Amino acid sequence: MKKDLLTLLDLTKSDCDTLFERAIELKKRRKNGIRETSLAGKSLGLIFDKPSTRTRVSFETAMIQLGGAPIFISSKDTQISRDEPVIDTARVLSRYLDGLVIRTFSQDILEGFGAYATIPVINALTDLYHPTQVLSDLMTVIEYKGGYAGLKIVWVGDGNNVSHSWINAAATLGLNLVLACPQGYYPNAAILKRAMDIGNGAIRVMSDPIAAVTDADVIYTDVWASMGQESEHIARKKVFKAYQVNQELVRHARNDAIVMHCLPAHRGEEISEEMMDGPSPVIWDQSENKMHMNKAILESLMTNK
Ligand code: CP
Ligand code: NVA
Repeated sequence: MKKDLLTLLDLTKSDCDTLFERAIELKKRRKNGIRETSLAGKSLGLIFDKPSTRTRVSFETAMIQLGGAPIFISSKDTQISRDEPVIDTARVLSRYLDGLVIRTFSQDILEGFGAYATIPVINALTDLYHPTQVLSDLMTVIEYKGGYAGLKIVWVGDGNNVSHSWINAAATLGLNLVLACPQGYYPNAAILKRAMDIGNGAIRVMSDPIAAVTDADVIYTDVWASMGQESEHIARKKVFKAYQVNQELVRHARNDAIVMHCLPAHRGEEISEEMMDGPSPVIWDQSENKMHMNKAILESLMTNK
């Protein structure tokens, strides 16, 4: 049976650990000049209803590096923009393609593709989740910290789609996750409850960013206004002012703490210029790792490994 990646709850801990291991191996093999052919002859469709730099290019290059072909499908150039139903689009694309990567607004549309497509469907970001991002972020955490168990991972900022995938990762992998968000901008209560009910991780939400980052091993932030929330940007800048990840805040974390950002960043808002341009390459490694993790994800879903 085909497998989808619609949220991180589609994966077990063992699935995730296998992906981390394979992504790290694929990264090494690429650096050693080894050519991969695991997806030779296969094609991957990429439907994007929202802009993307990293996710689109890293999936396209991942597919090429595995010997397959990516096909970018802009919604506005297809019959999707003229309201062809998801069920028909999903059925037709399943006749041509071997996998489908989708970035869209509603999780329900994505789940519709998952239900009607007979090929694997991968969530490349919705309003609710960004699972492939957090998988590659965890790969980066493993590279820098040797693992994820026992680390204090702190989210600072908006309780948004990326934070929801961190919450699911905490439930799946048993992470110690603290989220510092302004009152009124906490993560989705149902997502939080489901993750807490699973009971594996230690997940806490608070509004004090200093208390949250104290003794942190990993500090993670993301934009204050996500795609689709542009009209709230100015109001949010005021609400989130105390949540900027800067030297002053990071001083409360462990000396060897790493600062992460999924990008794109708004310099001077959720993260200071000095954090972006400091000597640590973590954020840039994090971006690169999206490509290696996407290769591991595509292999695992498109070859039934
Ligand atoms: N991090 C991330 O998903 O970036 P893009 O929006 O550029 O794909
Ligand atoms: N939360 C951000 C993530 C971008 C990768 C957004 O949805 O716009």
